[in-house]
Amino acid sequence: MNNLNHIAIIMDGNGRWAKKRGLPRSMGHKKGVEKVREIAIYANKLGIKCLTLYAFSTENWKRPEKEVNYLMSLPKIFFNKYLKELMKNNIKVTMIGDLNKIPLEAKNIFKDAIRQTSKNTGMILNFALNYGGQSEIVRACKQFAKDYKDGKIKTLNEKTFNNYLYTKDLPELDLMIRTSNEERISNFLLYQVAYSELVFVDTYWPDFTCTDLDKAIETYMNRNRRFGAVDEK
Ligand code: IPE
Ligand code: IPE
Ligand code: MG
Repeated sequence: MNNLNHIAIIMDGNGRWAKKRGLPRSMGHKKGVEKVREIAIYANKLGIKCLTLYAFSTENWKRPEKEVNYLMSLPKIFFNKYLKELMKNNIKVTMIGDLNKIPLEAKNIFKDAIRQTSKNTGMILNFALNYGGQSEIVRACKQFAKDYKDGKIKTLNEKTFNNYLYTKDLPELDLMIRTSNEERISNFLLYQVAYSELVFVDTYWPDFTCTDLDKAIETYMNRNRRFGAVDEK
């Protein structure tokens, strides 16, 4: 049987969900936030160890300022509403990405949620914010080069490189799901996705349900993960 410790989701389709209903894109994002709560609580109940959610990519700064500002206001809405519930469910909040550019208010709200939930022992709810896979790899290389120069590390291999990634303390990525019928990775967890199973679903993120997650997990369970080897007979 396939172990399933770490799921990552590219939560895509908020804008199209709104457009289909004649609503502004922001309404899609708002509805998307509700889904984050629902899916996180459910995944925790399923016993998933870590759920990484792609909330904002390093490329999403290209969007109109108004939309970027709205997206950056969502952490406040989310944690004001749901931090208590996350605590009650023993969920631990973490984040990955380059936080330097994140507006102070959103950054502080995250820091506070991370601090308050740091002793929780349930699922890790890991937000990728201002995250880009390429920039993560370049950052890791730079840090390795510095440590090498300082004599702190001698060998670089797949294992030691892992220690320079944002995800160093997280379980290996088993399953990556993308909603909204797009079949691309969009710079998400490029290093970590090496042997993950990919599941693409048609549903826009605001319509994604716990049943859709069940289905994606079932698809994953039916996959044959070979990791380059051959099946033992
Ligand atoms: C995903 O939905 C949310 C973020 C990228 C922040 P989109 O906003 O990309 O929605 P579509 O893809 O335009 O429908
Ligand atoms: C990926 O979605 C980023 C997030 C879900 C945060 P995008 O909507 O930004 O990706 P592209 O532009 O369709 O590749
Ligand atoms: Mg999109």
